[in-house]
Amino acid sequence: MRTAKQTLQSVPIMLFILIVIILGLLSLILVNRRKNNRRINEYLKDIPGPSPLPIVGNSIGASTYSKGVLRYFIDNVKKYGKTSLFWIGSNPYVFITDPKDVEILLKDTKNIRKSRTYDFLVPWLGGGLVTSTGDHWRVHRKIIRPSFNLNMLEKFVQVFNDCSDDMLENLTSKSDGERFDVFPIIVRHTLDVITETSMGLQMRIQRQEKSPYLTALESVKKISFTRVWNSLLHPDWIFDNMAIGKEFKRNLEMINDHCMKVIKEKQTIGLNDKSFLDILLSENQGEFSIKDILDEVNTFMFAGHDTTSTAIAFILHCLSLHADVQKKLYEEIEANFGAEVGTLTYRDLQSTVYLDRVIKESMRLFPPVASISRVLDYDLELTNATLPAGCYVECFIYMLHRNSKIYPDPEVFNPDRVDAEDQHHAAFAAFSAGLRNCIGQKYAMLEIKSTLIKILQRFEIYGGETISNLQNYVVLTAPDGIWMKMKPRRITS
Ligand code: HEM
Ligand SMILES: *[C@@H]1O[C@H](CO)[C@@H](O)[C@H](O)[C@H]1NC(C)=O
Ligand SMILES: *[C@@H]1O[C@H](CO)[C@@H](O)[C@H](O)[C@H]1NC(C)=O
Repeated sequence: MRTAKQTLQSVPIMLFILIVIILGLLSLILVNRRKNNRRINEYLKDIPGPSPLPIVGNSIGASTYSKGVLRYFIDNVKKYGKTSLFWIGSNPYVFITDPKDVEILLKDTKNIRKSRTYDFLVPWLGGGLVTSTGDHWRVHRKIIRPSFNLNMLEKFVQVFNDCSDDMLENLTSKSDGERFDVFPIIVRHTLDVITETSMGLQMRIQRQEKSPYLTALESVKKISFTRVWNSLLHPDWIFDNMAIGKEFKRNLEMINDHCMKVIKEKQTIGLNDKSFLDILLSENQGEFSIKDILDEVNTFMFAGHDTTSTAIAFILHCLSLHADVQKKLYEEIEANFGAEVGTLTYRDLQSTVYLDRVIKESMRLFPPVASISRVLDYDLELTNATLPAGCYVECFIYMLHRNSKIYPDPEVFNPDRVDAEDQHHAAFAAFSAGLRNCIGQKYAMLEIKSTLIKILQRFEIYGGETISNLQNYVVLTAPDGIWMKMKPRRITS
């Protein structure tokens, strides 16, 4: 047996060896990184962009831009052209906006890993479909896809109908010709819809003055976003110990407790077949742990309510500024569904033509998901450049949708445009495309359509106000609100 003294003597030697090993490893990593960086730099040297500063890259330029990060990237595209390069620290982000390049990226079946900008969603969304990759993602996607089959969509349309009544009540109280911000009403509607379809729970948030659940959800979303662009908040050991990190943790716990409570309830009272959660719990074939299910439910709650509310609110915004379009749209609605608000079915919603055009044109100008990004595991050959593995690619949908060759006068809202996909089928990508496209696209379109039909049957929308402050807080956001006026189409007794 060693004595205490011998052990003490060997400590400095062990420490020395440990330090040598650590230094050796560090220099190996550094040399490797240099080599890697040299390759990346070599490949990217011809792509134009703002000159980076050492260590921080272009982050300061973006985060101090007076008009906000989104405007900074828009102006970069205007200045440097359809492919541009931006550095966050030592990480290169190549922004692509040409439909040919976008198609190459989204059709690529090997480069499906999301970039670091999604990392800060992971504490919340875990290994859910939006953030995961590789086999985990593949297996989950395959199991979840059937939840969007015709039978389920028909049930979901019933929920869209049911939740609309509360929304129409709330809008009625605003339809006195005074200007109001439509977003808070729409977002509560889509939240009621998503809680019922994903968890089978009628929260009736629309009937409440204040909802702690909604407040928690908004806080978690806002803090996740703040973290993306502020590298000081990146390390967990800093973030977790700051007030903002504690607020995040508190709110996330509330959301998760809520969901776990619902799961436990379902396990005791039994399942039905009306929500995603019921399907995941019954069809999991042993593939899904409780944590997996929690992650997927949180992912649906996030991906399924903010995006649709943003889409609906911006469509209303476009209609509030274009009386001619609204008139034509109302005529189609009246001809198809009558003037009275009634129950819409899945089949009803297949027969709209002009409505589809209005929705698409509005989502062209205001894509709820304005940018998506990947990190390359393999080199990617674009039309004019080869992007090296390790590089980040930002598919900038907002500017893809403003290509003046495909959309003449791109800033003009005109639902009668020639179908852009006839010119290039990646020219419109609001729901992304390829393997990682939006799994909820059909669900979203049905929800958007049924909600708009009901609003237009009851109200005339006018007096829209131009949105000058537009930001990308994970989804496209108008922080100052989406203001308009409404009046009833006819006086009901
Ligand atoms: C107007 C509404 C919507 C828009 C514009 C939209 C857009 C998108 C986009 C652009 C992506 C790709 C994201 C990326 O590559 O990082 C995506 C993915 C996704 N969306 Fe949607 N979405 C909408 C509604 C919905 C709804 C209602 C749900 C669920 C009920 C949903 C669930 C998802 C999921 C789970 C993914 C990840 C798919 C995967 O990677 O396998 N989305 N969506
Ligand atoms: C909707 O109406 C309910 C009940 O009148 C009310 O408590 C709630 O604050 C309203 N919501 C909004 C966003 O105006
Ligand atoms: C590729 O380069 C050619 C010639 O410089 C240019 O006309 C074309 O628009 C570029 N394509 C893309 C996708 O950037």
